Amino acid sequence: MIELKNREEIEGIRKSGHLLADLFRHLDTQIAEGMSTYDVDRICLDFIKRHHAVASCLGYMGYPNATCISVNDTVIHGIPSKRLILKDGDLVSVDITLELDGFVSDSTHTYEIGKVSDEVHQLNIVTEKSLYNAIDAAGKKGARLHDIAKAVEDTCRPYGYGIVRDYCGHGVGFSIHEDPCVFNYVSMRNPNNKLREGMVIAIEPMINMGSWRIKDLEDGWTVKTVDGSVACHWEHTVAITENGAEIMTI
Ligand code: MF3
Ligand code: CO
Ligand code: CO
Repeated sequence: MIELKNREEIEGIRKSGHLLADLFRHLDTQIAEGMSTYDVDRICLDFIKRHHAVASCLGYMGYPNATCISVNDTVIHGIPSKRLILKDGDLVSVDITLELDGFVSDSTHTYEIGKVSDEVHQLNIVTEKSLYNAIDAAGKKGARLHDIAKAVEDTCRPYGYGIVRDYCGHGVGFSIHEDPCVFNYVSMRNPNNKLREGMVIAIEPMINMGSWRIKDLEDGWTVKTVDGSVACHWEHTVAITENGAEIMTI
């Protein structure tokens, strides 16, 4: 069931999202070559605690950390590790979910460490662009979930990238994962609800340079590309309002 949010609830999610955007601005100045992904997680958790928010992922279905940090061929749900040191040329997605005064926001940024290859840089730019095109599509009058998927597909098609099919975006705001699933590829099997005022969704294209196929590792969390190609992930929490799609996490 899709839970619509009223004006005050959207204001709560907006505050939560703006704090998360502040956290990313802070991280922009901190993340660097030579740090471990555990160090990055610590920076995020410290910020969240300092601002009287809660790290929603910590303990979620037994997840051990505040953030998911996915390097190179890891697509999503990379577990922060003291042994994984960021190095020149790495592509690193940092996925953070936080709760402020009971309202949840969810966002992912992908960072280039030092100088990445031209191909990897293009993957990052195109994936971010696919997110913004999807948000634009969601803001159009009468838009449906498939319009989001189509925008991601249309953005990625010229590059031949693989769009991950096994994971999707989701409703968000009262908890991390709410209905509906927000897929990034068009299929008649996928839900195609009309986007209504009061819906709040996390839109999150997961894009591989090679095949769309992924594998789940035995740790129960880490998701990697099957072919070892580099993957990218961008995410925003978006509210559908009378004025269209408003990005909460900006
Ligand atoms: N932030 C993730 C998402 O975008 C959820 C991660 S759940 C965790 O849906 F437990 F892996 F952290
Ligand atoms: Co997320
Ligand atoms: Co999400």
